[in-house]
Formats: sequence, C-alpha cells, structure tokens
Amino acid sequence: METIIKKIDPNNIDQDIIDEFGKMIADGKTVIFPTETVYGLGANALDEDAASKIYEAKGRPSDNPLLVHVSEIEEINPLVKKIDKKAKLLMDKFWPGPLTIVFEKKDIIPYRTSGGLDTVAIRMPSDEVARRIIKSSKKPIAAPSANLSGRPSPTKAEHIINDMQGRVDGILIGGPCNYGVESTIVDLSGEYPVVLRPGSITLEMLREVLGKVELDPALMRKSDNIKAKAPGMKYKHYSPKADVYMVKGQIEDFARMVNEKNKENVSKGIKTGVLCMSKYKDLFEADVFELGDSYEEVAKNLFDELIELDQKQIDIAYAQIFEEKDVGVAIMNRLKKSAAYRLIEV
Ligand code: TXA
Ligand code: MG
Repeated sequence: METIIKKIDPNNIDQDIIDEFGKMIADGKTVIFPTETVYGLGANALDEDAASKIYEAKGRPSDNPLLVHVSEIEEINPLVKKIDKKAKLLMDKFWPGPLTIVFEKKDIIPYRTSGGLDTVAIRMPSDEVARRIIKSSKKPIAAPSANLSGRPSPTKAEHIINDMQGRVDGILIGGPCNYGVESTIVDLSGEYPVVLRPGSITLEMLREVLGKVELDPALMRKSDNIKAKAPGMKYKHYSPKADVYMVKGQIEDFARMVNEKNKENVSKGIKTGVLCMSKYKDLFEADVFELGDSYEEVAKNLFDELIELDQKQIDIAYAQIFEEKDVGVAIMNRLKKSAAYRLIEV
C-alpha cells in the first residue's frame, strides 16, 4: 500500500493538508495523526470496513475495542444512549483533553468498532490538528494508538514511519505529543467510577470532581484471574525487544548492581541499558536512556525511550521505579507491563 506522508506545523496549521486527510477518513481510509497523548491510527468509526482496516494495520486482536474521537461535545449525542450527571461533570472539566469516558453505545456504532461490546469509549482530544481532522472529516474517528499491537505507543515521527509506512493510507506528522502516555479511561457504569487505564488525568484529579473513584483492581497486580474491564489492558503490551527489569532500592545500590552486571555483560557481548531520571545518569556505566527530571517528563518520554532501547539494540535494560501517586500511577502501569512485572530488589 502506498502511504501519503505529510508534515504539518501545529503553530501554523495548513487547512488544505487537514482537508486532504479529513477526506481520506471520510472515504474510508486509514490515517495516522497526532494527538496530545500519543499518535492515533484513525478511520471512520461508523464504517465497519474502515474499522477492520485499523485492526489489520495494527495486527490487533478483534475483541479489543477501538476508542472513538470527537471534536465537539455535541458530537457524542448521536453515538451514546445517555449522558449522566457524572459524565457531564467530567466532560465540562476535562474535555478537550486526555480523558476517555465509557458510554452505552447507540446502534450507529458498529460492533466492529466497539469490539463486540454494547459500550463505546469516547474522548475529545485537545490537540488542534486532531480536532481539525475530525471536524473536516465530519465523522467520529476510531483511533487506537499508532503502534503495532503489543509495542510501545509512538510519540515521534521517525518511530511511526519505521513501523507503519506501507500499512496505512496516510501519515500526518505534527505533534509534539505533550503527555506521552495514553488517555485515562473512566467507566461510570458501576456504583462508583472506576479508572480502567490510568493516565495524565490522575485519580486525584478525578476524585476532586466526582468524590469516590477507584482503580480497576485488575490493574494493581499481575493476575489472570481478575478480568480487566478495558479489554486492551489484558494483553501483553508496551514490550520492547529488550528484557526489561524494574529495580527497587537505593539509587546507589541500583547503580552498583548494574555497573557490575554491565562488566560481565560486555565480556559476553550483551548490551545493557538503564532507564532512569536524568539526574542519575552519571552514576551508571551502562547505556543510559534518560527519562527527564519530573514525573510529567517521565510520562512524556517513557515510550520513546522504550523504543530507543530497540533502536540501540539493547538486550537487557534496568528501569528505575516511581512512586505510585499522581501521574506515577500511569507511569508504573506502563513500566510494569513493559517489564512483564519483573522486579529486582537491591
Ligand atoms: O490517548 C489515547 O487514548 C490514544 C490516542 C490515540 O487517543 N488512544 C488509545 O487507544 O490509546 P487504544 O485503542 O490503544 O486503547 C484504547 C483502550 C484499550 O485498552 C481498549 O480495550 C479500551 O480502551 N476500550 C475501548 N473501548 C472500550 C469500552 N467500550 N470499554 C472498556 N474499554 C474500552
Ligand atoms: Mg494502544
């Protein structure tokens, strides 16, 4: 398949390019576009055949539902059965932005899009390029993250082009993706709201608006017995080719352990990497993949650095762990998965 690749300046948006990509969506084609979280691989959410193309391009299991993007709040009216008070509060406070809400779907949303569920997950992105494409296409856009299934979500043009060129009709490079982790997903169908996937809209922020909000228990531990309510969360995810291990303990002990291992590994021809905050980089003799200086930066950089591990052909990587509060919950959720829950205590 030939892929049209274009760049767009988010500070000076060229409406002709927006309309070209909007038309591709309206014509049932697949388009990769930037959002404020990660790049999305989009198609018309109301068109079953278009939705099928997304699954095909990603190599995604077909029971994993797609997330639907709108450009204005009113656009959800034809898509969902009802909008209750809590949903209204969340939309007023956090839309446009990185929050996805699960609603009961109307028939217009095909089961192909909802992965066979009677619900649909919807968000309104704040990224101006994303919103303008949705507006121009006059369609709600189904768009999962633009990675091959099981790989880290991409936030950088070069990573997307490497993996996806030839698999989609269009790639629109804009960005930057300011948050770097995918949107927070909230389910309001139970007695109290439940976060199905943690993100940059934190539990603390949601509680300020809604009162009691809990994390889906299936996210807290490695377990096959508890069923994750967001089907995507059950899959092995975010895995680089390197074996990633999380390391718990004092940073000096972490560094000593890695530096010893690194010596052994070098003699065996094994490449060792470290994922840590930038301030610690000088402690390590192995290849350091800097995550930045604040939790917000770590969230923004984590997927990029996981992809970089592969580009530098790292065989084994040791990762710093983070406190599980605020955006630290989202960081650790992604990191645990990329490490397949392996933890070393030093
Ligand atoms: O930030 C984001 O949300 C990005 C950008 C592109 O918008 N999109 C994204 O989509 O992360 P995706 O498909 O990679 O992740 C969507 C998650 C999956 O885990 C899926 O199982 C879950 O949302 N999901 C979708 N529809 C659902 C529903 N009706 N009920 C529960 N979970 C749902
Ligand atoms: Mg994804």
